[in-house]
Amino acid sequence: EAWWPDDDEQDRPLPSTVKVRVPAKINLHLGVGPLRRDGFHELRTVYHAISLHDEVTARRGDTLTLTMEGEGAGSLALDDSNLIIRAAHALAEFAKVNAHARLHLRKQIPLAGGLAGGSADAAATLVACDALWGTGVPRDELARLAASLGSDVPFLIHGGTALGTGRGEAVSPVLARAHTWHWVLGLAEGGLSTPDVYRELDRLRLAGEAPEPLGDTDDLMAALRQRDPAVLAAALGNDLQAAAISLRPALGEVLRAGTEVGALTGLVSGSGPTCVFLASSADHAGEVAAGLEKAGVCRAVRVAQGPVIGARAI
Ligand code: C5P
Repeated sequence: EAWWPDDDEQDRPLPSTVKVRVPAKINLHLGVGPLRRDGFHELRTVYHAISLHDEVTARRGDTLTLTMEGEGAGSLALDDSNLIIRAAHALAEFAKVNAHARLHLRKQIPLAGGLAGGSADAAATLVACDALWGTGVPRDELARLAASLGSDVPFLIHGGTALGTGRGEAVSPVLARAHTWHWVLGLAEGGLSTPDVYRELDRLRLAGEAPEPLGDTDDLMAALRQRDPAVLAAALGNDLQAAAISLRPALGEVLRAGTEVGALTGLVSGSGPTCVFLASSADHAGEVAAGLEKAGVCRAVRVAQGPVIGARAI
């Protein structure tokens, strides 16, 4: 029988297993604007994907199931409220296929940590199920589905360093010469609820107790182009930091401890409570991490580099 390779993707056999790796994010600049009528705040943020990863594996199945291991196992609900399950249903509904898959999550990104761990898992699930089911959803449609699941999800499909506007879901890549930045993460015991932190910022602003808003991203963009960690350190900022510290005063001590052991600067990651510290090199990051561990103010300490790519099959 004649055999010839066909280049029609539609006729290729579907994979039986797809494994997708997805990064955590930090915000190099998180400017929070006014509360909108839809309950979200207008944002101007610079997202940065870092080398702390979750992994979602999708296998063929007769129903939709989810299992997990790692960070938060035992406390993360694996039912229909889980963003992974919601992402699989959203894609299946859009592509008009059965949402049948056995999904497994290997988690390193802490829950409710301000690192977009849940959003990362949703992004990974969209990419994994798209490949498993052969739905071939165009990138812009995938981004639309992603945005329906959470403000950070579109960025986590992209990865890299990107400007986020709207409620954070409108992303455009930041064009900068390739440069690796070195980070140290101080993980906290227990998470912070993102809506609570935004609400606290609104309260502080109304009471006139919030610091001046950050404003535009010009300084940060200029700092990224200079590729000098001391310059970047001076340009990092997060409007949610005061609110996170107000709800969790111990974060002030974590930030102090990080700079005391030599970090160039420290800030709260997103809505917290993870704190992120900038180092000048991989070796320096190792020293800062060791010092921070010794200070005993964090549940765990991690080193990471950025930028890294977004959700991709491996
Ligand atoms: O979009 P996401 O599900 O991550 O948002 C979680 C919550 O964080 C929202 O329900 C809202 O309370 C708050 N949020 C906000 N403004 C944004 C993004 C999130 O107020 N731009």
